[in-house]
Amino acid sequence: MSGKTLITGATGGIGSAVTRSLAARGYDLVLACRNTSKAEALRQQILAEHPQARLELRPLDLTSLASVRRFAASFGPGQVSALFNNAGVISRGYALTGDGFENTFSINYFSPFLLTRLLLPCMEPDARVVNMVSLTCRFVRVDERALLPAEKDFSQLGTYARSKRALLLSSLELARRHPELRVNLADPGIVNSGIITMGRWFDPLADVLFRPLIKSPEQGAVPPLSALASEERDRYFVGKRSAAIPDRYRDPALQRRLWDETERLLSIQ
Ligand SMILES: NC(=O)c1ccc[n+]([C@@H]2O[C@H](COP(=O)([O-])OP(=O)(O)OC[C@H]3O[C@@H](n4cnc5c(N)ncnc54)[C@H](OP(=O)(O)O)[C@@H]3O)[C@@H](O)[C@H]2O)c1
Repeated sequence: MSGKTLITGATGGIGSAVTRSLAARGYDLVLACRNTSKAEALRQQILAEHPQARLELRPLDLTSLASVRRFAASFGPGQVSALFNNAGVISRGYALTGDGFENTFSINYFSPFLLTRLLLPCMEPDARVVNMVSLTCRFVRVDERALLPAEKDFSQLGTYARSKRALLLSSLELARRHPELRVNLADPGIVNSGIITMGRWFDPLADVLFRPLIKSPEQGAVPPLSALASEERDRYFVGKRSAAIPDRYRDPALQRRLWDETERLLSIQ
């Protein structure tokens, strides 16, 4: 791989496991992070173990479209070999970003969409795009109206699941529009990381009873690592294997409508 591999959320549980593994294998990495001191600490830890590792930090806050635009503008034509849209949140309550998008949708859907779109001219012809989805996708449906949820429609897990389903549908449409790219989905399973802290009374109980039973971040990193190394396209990476993206997710007309509406909302020409 000659160009750069970009990782959003590299400071998180799964993101840092992926970053460590790719750094050890000599990938030229850009860590896209909102918390640059946390990212610098990770960089130093990795460099202590792998002094030859190629790790660069660039700031990216997915609640700000201006930040996404600045980050994307820092790359030139052909510089990007792979983009791993990994950062994600399960927002505790309803809140809008400065751009007027619901917070979870901004971080999990709109900003990754915009980032991917803006980086297309910077990608190598057969670049990899790996989008992190979730098994919660299968329990919800979305259409254009779901993109801007009102406060009454918000629920912590429901909104998260809908944002991930929208990301899944936009990945299918990206793959259709850009067959030259290797667009794949990764589903890490249920992983012991920061995101599963729900900000609720039962968190301490879950920490004791639930966390020991679920996957480690290193196990959760297996599907995205496989996708980032794969020659395949249009696949769903889960556990140690990849499969065809289930037909239940495919809806070409809906994919197109969502894509067009997202471009309109983001004022993309
Ligand atoms: N853990 C699971 O069970 C599970 C299951 C299915 C899917 N996933 C998906 O896996 C991905 C990684 O999650 P994780 O489990 O590793 O969770 P995590 O440990 O909470 O990591 C989340 C990452 O996203 C970053 N992030 C949050 N808000 C951001 C913003 N506004 N701008 C830029 N970066 C932001 C965080 O940055 P900071 O370090 O600065 O907070 C962190 O690096 C997510 O997309 C998640 O939805 C996880």
